[in-house]
Amino acid sequence: MFIHWGLYAIPAWHEQLQWRKRVPREEYGKLAQQWNPVDFNPDKWIDVAQAAGMKYLCFTTKHHDGFCLWDTAQTDFNTINTPYGKDVLAQLAEACHRRNMPLCLYYSCVDWHHPNYPNQDRSHELPEPLPGDEPDMEKYMAFVKAQVRELCSNYGEIDGFWWDLNIIKHVDPSVNALIRDLQPKAIINDRGYSEGDFGTPERDVETSTEAKEIMRPTEACQSVGVQSWGFRANEDYYTTEHLIRSIDRYLARGANYLLNAGPTAEGIVPPQSDQILRRIGSWFDKAQESFFDTYPVPNFTTNSDVLVTRRESTFYIHLCKKPISSAVQLKPLKVLPRSATLLNNGAPVECVVDMLPIDHVSQETFLRLRNLPVEEFDDEVLVVKLEFDDNFHESILENLTIP
Ligand code: GLC
Repeated sequence: MFIHWGLYAIPAWHEQLQWRKRVPREEYGKLAQQWNPVDFNPDKWIDVAQAAGMKYLCFTTKHHDGFCLWDTAQTDFNTINTPYGKDVLAQLAEACHRRNMPLCLYYSCVDWHHPNYPNQDRSHELPEPLPGDEPDMEKYMAFVKAQVRELCSNYGEIDGFWWDLNIIKHVDPSVNALIRDLQPKAIINDRGYSEGDFGTPERDVETSTEAKEIMRPTEACQSVGVQSWGFRANEDYYTTEHLIRSIDRYLARGANYLLNAGPTAEGIVPPQSDQILRRIGSWFDKAQESFFDTYPVPNFTTNSDVLVTRRESTFYIHLCKKPISSAVQLKPLKVLPRSATLLNNGAPVECVVDMLPIDHVSQETFLRLRNLPVEEFDDEVLVVKLEFDDNFHESILENLTIP
């Protein structure tokens, strides 16, 4: 679960309010005097994450506005100097450690508050330095490293570091090296000051329904809200169907999926987000055995409407594209499985190997899954578990020679 939380939750318009609505820094900074999330309870966030089937959290310690959600000695612009007066990250980290919920930290490279960040009107930057600023990348990087040191030293084990928006593509491998030194287990994304461990496609960038094979470690990120990652009062939300199909498309290809919700200024996950996440969780709970300890089999079938994952002689057929009929043909497979089960309801699935009129030229028979309850599970990805006899194993594989 991705969590975007900061001062921007108060005006509740967008996490980039300061930049997108041209709010003067000084005025934006006054929001700190209103920061008092009386309902913040990290256990409740973890409850939602767990109900959604999520396996780790990623939390915005500092977004582009520069406001820090921990007790940092590097700037006064942090949660201690607010009516709330407490270290948010410390409470979240304590709860995560207690409940064995891995915790990753998001940190923005762009900073609209720090006097040394060289704002120059590039994308996601202020138009120019403000009076009194001293743009100085060396000094800014010293600040960043001091903050990284705090984040990686004062909050127990950290599982990942999630950089964002290194607009100027500043290169400094010593920053990730510092993280690796202080938190050897942490994985690091690809948006920081050197390469990192995994890619971060955002907002479902793949528009093609034919999902391509994923060639490097990947964590796709997406928000439940269409416009914003931070809490937005007038947000329009994605349908659960859209999100479930998107999640399946990435997970079934071996990627991770980081789905975001923005808590309100009071500190609660908004009811609509809560509802969406729990709905996704009820599907995920049923489908999850198809994702864990499995690997993608991109060449299982020529049918591009499905994705396939595999564990030994068990194959999972993901109907990730919205089905337009109640059957799925799995050309060139010709073997009947020992059993076929729809994970969505646990019911057996009818399987036949026969010749369809459309295959009259080759006169070949192929495996087909029939009478799937596609209307009943309209907003879910159907996942069918096919178990083959172990001695059928090799013959199945021989079939999988797809041009
Ligand atoms: C985009 C948004 C940014 C958000 C990030 C999360 O870059 O502009 O506000 O934090 O996505 O990936």
